[in-house]
Amino acid sequence: MNSDIERVLFSAEELYQRVSELGKLLTEEYYDREPLILCVMKGAMVFTSDLMRQLRRPCELETIAISSYREGVTSGSLVVDQPLSIHITGRDVIVVEDILDTGRTLDYVMNILQNAEPASLKLVTLLDKPSRRVVPLQADLVGFTIPDVFVVGYGLDYNQGYRNLPYIGVLKPSVYH
Ligand code: XMP
Ligand code: MG
Repeated sequence: MNSDIERVLFSAEELYQRVSELGKLLTEEYYDREPLILCVMKGAMVFTSDLMRQLRRPCELETIAISSYREGVTSGSLVVDQPLSIHITGRDVIVVEDILDTGRTLDYVMNILQNAEPASLKLVTLLDKPSRRVVPLQADLVGFTIPDVFVVGYGLDYNQGYRNLPYIGVLKPSVYH
């Protein structure tokens, strides 16, 4: 285990199991549709990569880069890293996010997408920290609900590091203090 990690929250095996279940649920729900997967970069790229391979339906993949975090601390203001030029109208859009925290980022993204009049719009998040929510936003599908701890790995970062850990772990407070 990486020496900056206090404890493993979800092992690679547990992640695989749960992501497979989520993929099965989406396969059933979209059995007659060809969804557009919208990966919220960069945190959700590992999750999206695994999830879409468990979706037994034709689909398309696009990415959006929007973040409210800088150096692991929420600024409360959102940074749009890339204009949204993806054709959303009439599509069955599945937004894939790594973690739902205050809800600000996704609330912002979901509103922009809804205004583009998709046929349907769903939010899937691997992790949910409901205790931190400041905006009343709920995901349609949640991998795991977690307490208010800072987690890294499986795409999630601290200062752009740790994204390649195959598990999700709690970062030692000494790393960011
Ligand atoms: P909001 O607050 O808008 O933020 O829901 C969601 C974004 O915040 C980041 N985030 C984390 N990143 N470990 C991380 O690596 C965490 O524990 C964590 N909590 C929030 C993440 O980028 C997410 O997209
Ligand atoms: Mg993110």
